[in-house]
Amino acid sequence: MHKIAYLAVLAQVHGAIISGLCNDKNTSTPLVKGDQTYVCININDKYRAVFTPVVDDFVQLRVYNSYKDSRIENSSFASYLTLSSMTSRSVYKLYTDQTGKAFPSFTAVITVVDGLIQGISWDDGCYLCNSTSCASNIYSAPKVPLVNSAFGSGNTCFHNQTACSSTENSCDLGIFVGWTGTDYNGNYLSSAGMRVSQFQQYSVTSYVDDLKSKLSSLLPRF
Ligand SMILES: *[C@@H]1O[C@H](CO)[C@@H](O)[C@H](O)[C@H]1NC(C)=O
Ligand SMILES: *[C@@H]1O[C@H](CO)[C@@H](O)[C@H](O)[C@H]1NC(C)=O
Ligand SMILES: *[C@@H]1O[C@H](CO)[C@@H](O)[C@H](O)[C@H]1NC(C)=O
Ligand SMILES: *[C@@H]1O[C@H](CO)[C@@H](O)[C@H](O)[C@H]1NC(C)=O
Repeated sequence: MHKIAYLAVLAQVHGAIISGLCNDKNTSTPLVKGDQTYVCININDKYRAVFTPVVDDFVQLRVYNSYKDSRIENSSFASYLTLSSMTSRSVYKLYTDQTGKAFPSFTAVITVVDGLIQGISWDDGCYLCNSTSCASNIYSAPKVPLVNSAFGSGNTCFHNQTACSSTENSCDLGIFVGWTGTDYNGNYLSSAGMRVSQFQQYSVTSYVDDLKSKLSSLLPRF
């Protein structure tokens, strides 16, 4: 079995979100390697979890108990997510559908040029599962699949409802995030390269957001 050793588990505390950007200010700030920044997981364009990782650290953003939260995992609707930072936002991924099937693990790459985010892409593949539990998962909008696009197949591993319910927290959402490009000072960002080793034993800082207290209203778009 592959195991991931968590270097640190940090509970992040955040205040209310007052702007549309994934940021505490209503402005986009150039990224500097080693500085703290903002990355948001947005669910159904309605809720967001805010994380404050360090630029160019390869991290995992985890939404604790997300599979148990009826605002997210609900038999009457599917949940789609995006990842955003500053003024950029990824395309959508399905997290759970009405049957309780879940795609719990994703990898995102934030591309930066001179400190400005150019885009946030999904980098997926079914390395940890076989074809029976692998499906295309990439959407331009909730319920609108992106097919034959430059975004690729979006292949992602899933678990069914039985598997998700039988092991506590096994289908909680976790998103690996890495950066690539150059920061505001022209320094290279290279942590996205770590994703190729993500399924081997290594250490990664994990940021955990506890939904009960911190899943806040998403205003208005990012
Ligand atoms: C944020 O900035 C935009 C334009 O830059 C402005 O339209 C909006 O009202 C601002 N929002 C807040 C909460 O200050
Ligand atoms: C689904 O969400 C609705 C609110 O949107 C809520 O009233 C309902 O109880 C939820 N259903 C389940 C099964 O959790
Ligand atoms: C896929 O995985 C399932 C369950 O883990 C297993 O029963 C099945 O034999 C596997 N199929 C292939 C083609 O490896
Ligand atoms: C759910 O997934 C488990 C483990 O992958 C598998 O053994 C089981 O057959 C699946 N159940 C259904 C209803 O597909």
